[in-house]
Amino acid sequence: MRSPTLVLGAAVAFASVSAAACNGTTPDSCCNVLEAAGLKVLRPDSAAYKARDASYFSVSAQLSPYCIVQPTNAAEVSLAAATLKGTTCNWAVRSGGHMTWAGASNIDKGVTLDMGLINQVKYSPLTKLASIGAGALWRDVYSALEEYGVTAPGGRTATVGVAGFLTGGGNNFFSSEVGLGCDNIVNFEVVLASGEIVQANAVTNADLHKALKGGSGNFGIVTRVDMQTVDIVEIWGGQVVYPVNTTGQHIAAYVKWVDNIRSYPQGSAVTFWAYTPAAGTVVSAALQDTSNAAWAPAYDDFHNIGPILQDTIRHDSHLNMTVELEEPSGYRQVWITLTGKNDERFIRRAVQAQADFIDGWKATQDPDFLNYITFQAMPTLLFEHSVKKGGNVLGMDREKDDAILFQMQHMVRSAEAEAEARRQLVAMTQELREYYTAEGIRVEWEYLGYADGSQSPLSTYGPENIQFIRDVAAKYDPEEVFQKRVPGGFKISQVA
Ligand SMILES: Cc1cc2nc3c(=O)[nH]c(=O)nc-3n(C[C@H](O)[C@H](O)[C@H](O)COP(=O)(O)OP(=O)(O)OC[C@H]3O[C@@H](n4cnc5c(N)ncnc54)[C@H](O)[C@@H]3O)c2cc1C
Ligand SMILES: *[C@@H]1O[C@H](CO)[C@@H](O)[C@H](O)[C@H]1NC(C)=O
Ligand SMILES: *[C@@H]1O[C@H](CO)[C@@H](O)[C@H](O)[C@H]1NC(C)=O
Ligand SMILES: *[C@@H]1O[C@H](CO)[C@@H](O)[C@H](O)[C@H]1NC(C)=O
Repeated sequence: MRSPTLVLGAAVAFASVSAAACNGTTPDSCCNVLEAAGLKVLRPDSAAYKARDASYFSVSAQLSPYCIVQPTNAAEVSLAAATLKGTTCNWAVRSGGHMTWAGASNIDKGVTLDMGLINQVKYSPLTKLASIGAGALWRDVYSALEEYGVTAPGGRTATVGVAGFLTGGGNNFFSSEVGLGCDNIVNFEVVLASGEIVQANAVTNADLHKALKGGSGNFGIVTRVDMQTVDIVEIWGGQVVYPVNTTGQHIAAYVKWVDNIRSYPQGSAVTFWAYTPAAGTVVSAALQDTSNAAWAPAYDDFHNIGPILQDTIRHDSHLNMTVELEEPSGYRQVWITLTGKNDERFIRRAVQAQADFIDGWKATQDPDFLNYITFQAMPTLLFEHSVKKGGNVLGMDREKDDAILFQMQHMVRSAEAEAEARRQLVAMTQELREYYTAEGIRVEWEYLGYADGSQSPLSTYGPENIQFIRDVAAKYDPEEVFQKRVPGGFKISQVA
């Protein structure tokens, strides 16, 4: 393998690649030019390629790219992007591979740029910042930070990727205290379409800094983030499982919980209605307290619900809590999401929609499926932190009332079942939107991190943010490489 071109040489490398005879007009030649540039390339017949493809969380996202290119540092990302620009192949950008729909971070007729080898985590006790390679998984981050007595406001499931999570927003156990994960990024290192490696922070490229906080892969390839940490390792929490006949109590408890968040921002609560063939539907509350207090008074309403079928409540590391929340693999996943005001009607209608959907599915489809829905607090307090920390582009600071996010994940075994599920769930979400609108409890925003490819989360950020994202994309990627040559994921050019 030749040594990679230095940072500033990337643009030069691009010029020489496009002039070469091997110009990448066939699948093989696209991979050949990457290899000739000195980059690590995995071919479809190799075990390493198969392992990386199998590591996408959702089977739906496990596609068949011509090859996978694995840069090991920002200079190699620059070289890979410049080299691909000189070919006719399209490409995809992948970090943790947790976006669930086909083509978000993988590609069939093209090359996948896999950030997985750029996963170093460094910590500076002086600045309290963690410098994190964009391809790291959150478990890498938490385990590296534990020895310093700190952690980061990252994913609540250990194997979620850093870059996709942060460029979409990033709800976390610490959200009510410090904001979304993205709000805690003081600097992004980014490879632009030109091959240039830039920093984006409050002083330098401040527009890009803000746009990356929610604007996803529209501007460049994030290679490193510098993130504010929190002085916590051990937290309290776990999951408490109840029978489904506690539904009414859970709905009331959740709305009260959100109402009360301002007086107890250390707490986090996510309520699941979870269907499995073995147990039917149960209600499960994932409760976490970052102050490490056991059953703080704010949890009284949850504590009083019974009977309890099972619980894992304990004091444990942040890392271990996120390992506990790992989800089953081996399924095709259809995720959809909506947001509404903190109102019992919002939860009640969605719980009913899930029950109806599951009844219909059981009656007509392969019984080997799982279905979970979750409700997550999106209080105004959370987005006050965002504004204080420089702002993001999500547009939730428009909301005057506390909100709740609804997310459904339907897990099936076949491509046909996935297509049928998507058809039914698009219709279900549309009915929910109409009901919420009629009741005056709809919130426009839909969370990109949980959205299906059939949704358009960027179009829910509000006109000013949409225009801002367009402007920043046009400024940093004037040739529209990340719109046209990297077609996957949520793209601003697709917003009407
Ligand atoms: C099991 C599970 C648990 C989750 N838990 C949470 C949670 O607690 N809180 C929450 O807010 N969300 C959560 N999510 C949603 C998650 O944040 C998103 O799916 C996120 O996109 C995953 O990031 P990734 O790096 O793994 O994704 P990938 O699939 O690798 O990428 C997602 C998108 O980002 C783009 N992208 C990836 N890397 C880069 C890069 N380096 N530069 C620019 N663009 C890039 C990709 O092209 C793609 O469009 C969860 C998802 C799953 C499946
Ligand atoms: C690529 O190279 C081949 C062989 O040299 C040539 O026939 C073809 O026109 C070139 N294509 C482009 C897009 O430059
Ligand atoms: C709810 O269901 C559980 C177990 O299925 C049962 O023990 C309990 O009595 C039920 N409670 C009510 C109020 O029906
Ligand atoms: C986290 O889990 C590991 C493995 O199960 C265990 O050894 C460790 O003690 C746990 N950490 C804490 C803080 O309890």
